[in-house]
Amino acid sequence: MRARDLDRYRREIGWRDAPLVDVAAPPAAPLVETGDLESLAREAASCTRCRLAEQRRTVVFGEGDPRARVMFVGEGPGAEEDRTGRPFVGQAGALLDAMIFALGFERRQVYIANVVKCRPPGNRDPQDDEVTACAPYLDRQIALIRPLLIVALGKPAARRLTGSTAPISALRGRWSSYLGIPVLPTFHPAYLLRTPLAKREVWQDLKAVRARLAEAPPSP
Ligand code: URA
Repeated sequence: MRARDLDRYRREIGWRDAPLVDVAAPPAAPLVETGDLESLAREAASCTRCRLAEQRRTVVFGEGDPRARVMFVGEGPGAEEDRTGRPFVGQAGALLDAMIFALGFERRQVYIANVVKCRPPGNRDPQDDEVTACAPYLDRQIALIRPLLIVALGKPAARRLTGSTAPISALRGRWSSYLGIPVLPTFHPAYLLRTPLAKREVWQDLKAVRARLAEAPPSP
């Protein structure tokens, strides 16, 4: 993103101290998205851009407040999400709800999406070409919602949104930016279910998010 565009974008979202340098990979989406989330969801519902389309039951587009201040980006739908069409409805979802609550929000007040909208078979990590194929949907969601900040949950989201291939343990807790929007990676709730001790680090990350939100101008 060019510095001039980034400046304009920062002014638009009212975020005064976003990093000046956009460290993430160049955006695949236009800076200002002119459509709406419903049309984008309809477009995604018939997507066949990658092999994940072959085995999915549902395209899990994402859900929440289209004007959310905070957006969470996870990895991809699991079995339960594929069945219901909603993101983070399984056990990891209950933990995500607790994280959202710790920030002072309810689920309906934030926006939740994934780097891939279709379930990777056997819950494997999404492959790079699948993430790339799905990136225009995520980028357009971000451009439409224009949250004040994004929390990247787990490795695939952290890598996509920071442009770094470092391990999640190195990326978590460090701010960067994507499409001019501050991004904070943290551990995925599913990892927390397996590794409860990591909740300490996630709590630190959530405190950093809370502090950043407290600095932001109130919503109009
Ligand atoms: N894990 C994710 O990353 N996303 C979901 O929607 C559910 C589980």
